[in-house]
Amino acid sequence: MKKLKVLALFDAIAPTTIDQDLSAELKTEDWSSEADVLKALRRLGHRTEYLAIFDDLDLLRQKIRYFKPDIIFNLCDQFNNNRAFDQNIAAYLELSGVPFTGCGAAGLTLAKHKGISKKILAYHGLRVPKFVTIPYGGRIVRPKQLEFPLIVKPLNEEASLGISQSSWVDTDHQFKKRVRFLRQNYGHDVIVEEYIHGRELYVSLLGDRKLRVFPIREILFQDVPEGQPRIASYRAKWDYDYRDKWGIDNQFARLNPRLKRRIQRYGRQTFQLLKLNGYVRLDLRITPEEEIVFIEANPNPILARHEDFSHAAVKSGLKYHELIQAILRIGLETVRG
Ligand SMILES: Nc1ncnc2c1ncn2[C@@H]1O[C@H](COP(=O)(O)OP(=O)(O)O)[C@@H](O)[C@H]1O
Ligand SMILES: [Mg+2]
Repeated sequence: MKKLKVLALFDAIAPTTIDQDLSAELKTEDWSSEADVLKALRRLGHRTEYLAIFDDLDLLRQKIRYFKPDIIFNLCDQFNNNRAFDQNIAAYLELSGVPFTGCGAAGLTLAKHKGISKKILAYHGLRVPKFVTIPYGGRIVRPKQLEFPLIVKPLNEEASLGISQSSWVDTDHQFKKRVRFLRQNYGHDVIVEEYIHGRELYVSLLGDRKLRVFPIREILFQDVPEGQPRIASYRAKWDYDYRDKWGIDNQFARLNPRLKRRIQRYGRQTFQLLKLNGYVRLDLRITPEEEIVFIEANPNPILARHEDFSHAAVKSGLKYHELIQAILRIGLETVRG
């Protein structure tokens, strides 16, 4: 590939300037995706500049005007500290006419809504958990068509925000308490789903001309006693002591070849039905009867080298910088709108 001018676009949690020096931030754990991607872009020989935006799109407009990037590497997934606006950033990039990496506005909108995504897949015959949504401010009554145990989640969050062991509820009392807690702390709609027993898998997809499904990862709950809920809660994902205590570990999944092929096909269907582009990680559960159940799709998953998506790509034989190059190439080839 020829050398490109790449603008790496980040989000910031406080106002920024157009030429802000982020070298201190880039050395911290919170910025590991940004740092890993920048390093790979530079190693690939692309002329790379970065910009972090908080709530000022005019900075981006100016930067595009002066730097004239061939492509934007989009790592911006919030605006004004609100993650629900990631789709609006993608929509702005689509309007700018500059090619960019990852998922477009439609895919982000469909996939990130934990109700709409399931309705689309269910229409096409894919199994999803039974669910209802409870609008913010609406009356809190347990939906009679759902059987305990249930899991109660914010409708539009990610990274397991608002998800803990108490998200798993087995009585009316626990149910009401959890819905109230989420309302108070997250302030938006809630989704209640039947709890799906079984193994939890992470399927990494790269939307090349022919979609690639990387080796499948699994989260293991080795020391969680039988009968206890197994949930990739906030602590189960991000708290290393907690992971140690309960033997929680992400590894490559051992799957029989037939199930593996079914999961790959499921991945391809989901990618297409939810209008996804670029790179995506699916969260799935496999019931004891080997039924595949959709939990959610994560467009633009974290790209840090130590995360599941990168591990899966590297296991398939790609080097990390080759993955970044592939994401750029796909971004250049994707037709938006
Ligand atoms: N219906 C469900 N049945 C069983 N476990 C679930 C269900 N929904 C969510 N979980 C558990 O909670 C975790 C986080 O839920 P998810 O919908 O993926 O939210 P997030 O977007 O925050 O990752 C999942 O990885 C899974 O472990
Ligand atoms: Mg998830």
